[in-house]
Amino acid sequence: MKLWGGRFDRETDPRLAAFGDSLAFDRRLWAQDIRGSIAHARGLAAAGVITEEEAALLVQGLEELAAEFAADGVPAEGAEDIHSLVEARLLDRIGPVAKKLHTGRSRNDQVALDIRLFVVRACRERRRELLDLIETLVAVAEKEEGTVLPGYTHLQRAQPVLLAHHLLAYVEMFWRDWERFGDCRRRANVSPLGAGALAGSGFPLDRERVAAALGMDGVTANSLDAVADRDPVAEFIFAAALTQVHLSRLSEELVLWAGEEYGFVEFDEAFATGSSLMPQKKNPDGAELIRAKAGRVIGDLVAILTVLKGLPLAYNKDLQEDKEALFDAADTLGACLRLLPPMLSSLRWNRDRMRRAAEEGFLNATDLADYLVRRGVPFREAHHLVGRLVRRAAERGVGLAGLSLEEMRTVAPCIGPDVYEALTLEACLAAKDVPGGTAPARVGEALAKARERLARARAGK
Ligand code: ARG
Repeated sequence: MKLWGGRFDRETDPRLAAFGDSLAFDRRLWAQDIRGSIAHARGLAAAGVITEEEAALLVQGLEELAAEFAADGVPAEGAEDIHSLVEARLLDRIGPVAKKLHTGRSRNDQVALDIRLFVVRACRERRRELLDLIETLVAVAEKEEGTVLPGYTHLQRAQPVLLAHHLLAYVEMFWRDWERFGDCRRRANVSPLGAGALAGSGFPLDRERVAAALGMDGVTANSLDAVADRDPVAEFIFAAALTQVHLSRLSEELVLWAGEEYGFVEFDEAFATGSSLMPQKKNPDGAELIRAKAGRVIGDLVAILTVLKGLPLAYNKDLQEDKEALFDAADTLGACLRLLPPMLSSLRWNRDRMRRAAEEGFLNATDLADYLVRRGVPFREAHHLVGRLVRRAAERGVGLAGLSLEEMRTVAPCIGPDVYEALTLEACLAAKDVPGGTAPARVGEALAKARERLARARAGK
């Protein structure tokens, strides 16, 4: 059934129809579409536009249709889009009263609603998955509370940090992502129904009441904006893309750390794959793919922004191009977020190797400079003196603690025998005792805070 044949005498060219039909992908919105139609039917009755009996027939027919779609799936062809399909099926089911459903509504406000309902649900799902990921990272951090590794800048060993501290850095990123999806959901959760095609519905619909029935927080303020706006889609995909970027950074570190050159971590066999040619290989495919999926979702973001750029008000068919990008971003991120937690929990951390890496390479050089500062040497000078000591030690093939006190004193006479204590890994860590620092006590506090925040988030507070 075509929704708009009246002014046409000739059939649509099948090539245009095939090109323009969206049912193959927008059928995913069937549940949102039917939910919106039920709310609209009740709204029409409440406004006195149709009778209560007619509304009851429409609602019952739509509910039956929803049950049929849930059981048997939704066909991919046979209608222009999901909105036409629902209306045609409703007509088959309940007869001519179905023709009243579209009163005071356009597919433009209808599809804008469907998309918003989809975004709201997808935000809720991704947020839940983000909490699972955060919880897993916190659990690994707790289990590895004493594990040390080199912290890096420029991929060069820099200063020792706790593995828990490193993992908690990702927890921070994922909290921000969790908040972003919350913001996105809040702005998406308003109803465009009543905007009509672009100018506003010609019937006195109680828009607020329909919105409330849909569990939405309010209504859109401007009818032109309501049908032209795809910010909820763009915001969702941006939040997804940034989350993917964070996931890709974590995945990259896991891939690096699993390589023999680092050897910090080993993937469980259940989360690694082999090579068809090289019998010895054990590859971190899952992490590599998560790393790569960022590219795909960034592509979705570029796609939606490019579609929206320069688009005049109000509805344009271009807006139909919002859906595949949205679905792809939601699906891709969901798949990554569901894979990563079990993969992370099954990692085996090579604590000795990480510790050795943190002990080699002069990662305590800054601490020696700080030691000199505490003995009155200006930092810039201390930096230079320690540079000299690093040079001597390197020439000798030892660490800073491998230099004798006499030798150290020839460079910096204020050094005392307590320097060796200051050069230990434990002292270096404990010294970073500022909020947000890697001192074990601070990391313990951060873990406790993360646990509290998780409990609050799970409780919906
Ligand atoms: N399939 C269309 C979309 O996704 C539905 C809205 C069509 N509206 C219209 N006036 N052609 O955007």
